[in-house]
Amino acid sequence: MDILVIGGGGREHAIIRKIKESPLCGKVYCAPGNGGIAADAECIPSVKATDVEGAVRLAQEKKVDFVIVAPDDPLVLGMVDALEAAGIPAFGPRKNAAILEGSKAFAKDLMKKYGIPTAAYEIFTDAEAAIAYVRAQNAYPTVIKADGLALGKGVIIAQSEQEAVTAIRDMLEGGRFGDSGRRIVVEQFLSGPEVSVLALTDGEVVRPLCSSMDHKRALDNDEGLNTGGMGTIAPNPAYTDEVAAKAMDRIFLPTIRAMNAEGRTFRGCLYFGLMVVDGEPYVIEYNCRFGDPETQVVLPMMEGDLLRAMIATREGTLAQADFSTRDGFAACVVMASGGYPVKYETGKEIFGLDANGQIPDGSATVYHAGTKREGGALCTAGGRVLGVTARGRTLNDAVAAAYRAVSTIRFEGEHHRRDIGRKAGATYGD
Ligand code: AMP
Ligand code: GLY
Repeated sequence: MDILVIGGGGREHAIIRKIKESPLCGKVYCAPGNGGIAADAECIPSVKATDVEGAVRLAQEKKVDFVIVAPDDPLVLGMVDALEAAGIPAFGPRKNAAILEGSKAFAKDLMKKYGIPTAAYEIFTDAEAAIAYVRAQNAYPTVIKADGLALGKGVIIAQSEQEAVTAIRDMLEGGRFGDSGRRIVVEQFLSGPEVSVLALTDGEVVRPLCSSMDHKRALDNDEGLNTGGMGTIAPNPAYTDEVAAKAMDRIFLPTIRAMNAEGRTFRGCLYFGLMVVDGEPYVIEYNCRFGDPETQVVLPMMEGDLLRAMIATREGTLAQADFSTRDGFAACVVMASGGYPVKYETGKEIFGLDANGQIPDGSATVYHAGTKREGGALCTAGGRVLGVTARGRTLNDAVAAAYRAVSTIRFEGEHHRRDIGRKAGATYGD
């Protein structure tokens, strides 16, 4: 079958490389794609990831058999609904289920209604009411979240009343985050290790993939600004069998059943952002899609046919899909443009990769996030440029192999964290 993948980052590159292992997989198109994905798929740069009509037209024109919608925005906009309406099978939740990520207020109210463990909260549209609530709680840090999508940047951890008041006014009165911040969630601060669990679901069963850990801050030791993610490891040692069993019983299955009860059946990849507080898992956030850069470690840890599993999520046959998690560990180190996530330059030539954009010795896989081809050269084209993933028998082996590969790649201004996996116990580099 011919496949169209919507998106153009490291996550989409990882999905494409994994589905190409499937005997079912024919030609792969990617819209818009990027300079590195072009080695694995035919890229269509003119169709942006948020272009719902363009995606439907492209799928019809290329007569593809299946579309994988990877990013949050098109899912929240209803791209899967539009494709289905045109008779094109697609992977990903419909609009009425993607709201689980599209509105934090919706997600919090759902969890409250169905008793799913999450931080205590209130929802506000009025700044004075929100400020009065924060003052009455008088507990810092406190967490202020924009309701809608904000590129992963709509969460402020306020350390004092003053910071909380500023964040509330910025969002509700100052238009920070635009429409996404016209409604806010104020919630209790939780602390504990964070775990990302990406799970496939067909609305009946939930099949978690390997657990993982993101590193969201720009700098070592979790300092600096929040980013889309600077690196990942899998599995996540905080996600013990005991925590996993609790998460399945108290969070995963109840969420799926709650969405069914609301008439919003979720089919696709549901990402549970969990925090483990004294051994108990809580939901920090839901995402309606594969995580980035979690996918760049989770899929290399998956044994089995991703394409068949994705088709099974649509057809309601996920219980029978044959896949499992490999032994060992994977680590992904993101190589970013200097200055990311604020201001950075692009168009820098990337050295150290072969004609396919890979490490010549094959010791790691390079997932391209923000690259483009200019003439014969591969150049940077975004904040996050490459995700370099390696596997190993131990976490240290995986992290060391990823960093060895990173050390062979160069571009002007390049920045990466040097402590990926450290929190999870890696001692590489000490
Ligand atoms: P989110 O966009 O909801 O994933 O939030 C971004 C990050 O903010 C999370 O990965 C956490 O590190 C942090 N965060 C969000 N909610 C809370 C909370 N209730 N308590 C502590 N940290 C939080
Ligand atoms: N890495 C976090 C996310 O994909 O939202």
